[in-house]
Amino acid sequence: MDSRAQLTKTTVFLHWIIALAIIGSLGFGLYLEDLPGSPDKGALIGIHKSIGVLILVVALYRIYWRIRNGFPQRLTPVADWQEKAATLVHLILLAGTVLMPISGIFMSVGGGHSVAVFGLEVIPAQGEIEWMGDLGHLLHGLGGKIMIAAILLHVAAAVKLWLFTKDSTMQRMLGRKVS
Ligand code: HEM
Ligand code: HEM
Repeated sequence: MDSRAQLTKTTVFLHWIIALAIIGSLGFGLYLEDLPGSPDKGALIGIHKSIGVLILVVALYRIYWRIRNGFPQRLTPVADWQEKAATLVHLILLAGTVLMPISGIFMSVGGGHSVAVFGLEVIPAQGEIEWMGDLGHLLHGLGGKIMIAAILLHVAAAVKLWLFTKDSTMQRMLGRKVS
């Protein structure tokens, strides 16, 4: 289990693999949105969808892991509003890791497309389901923007603790034992 002095390898691994995958998928998604339609674009969307479904599986496990472990304990006391803001941002980030792929699946399935993970079909095409496509589109677009804002706040807070407060929060998320 995570302790105040050290986070487990699982916590550290899950944080960084999901962080990388989410930042990459946000960038990839925004790039796709601006790309004109073509067979190449279709193939790239297939890769985006495949990675997104894999993220969903890991993200669900991560949420189970976080519920079992609780959030990491704070190393340096901060103002009450900062504590609340950090918890809110962490909850938005965790929710986004699940809601982004689910809304993507809604958008695809609602639009009459199948969902496959690198060629292995997980949801066959059903024909268009308008409300599902519209809801997925709305949540995927809005969710992406909320995630980008939350990540910017989160990284700014992490860098502040690291470079200005100079506590060991960042080192602990890199797997080190701290005092
Ligand atoms: C380069 C980017 C990032 C840096 C430098 C970073 C840094 C950190 C650090 C230092 C902590 C520990 C906070 C503490 O102990 O109180 C943390 C926790 C956390 N981070 Fe990040 N992070 C990054 C990206 C992300 C992304 C993209 C996500 C979500 C998709 C994310 C989600 C979380 C969550 C939910 C926590 C709470 C602890 C946990 O559930 O593991 N982080 N992050
Ligand atoms: C963590 C996972 C994911 C992230 C962070 C993500 C992010 C994004 C972003 C930011 C966009 C641009 C949307 C806009 O600005 O309106 C996008 C587009 C899209 N995403 Fe995702 N996505 C994820 C997973 C998925 C999944 C699992 C699917 C489907 C199974 C999917 C399907 C799509 C589709 C079809 C587009 C539109 C591409 C286009 O036609 O231009 N996404 N994604």
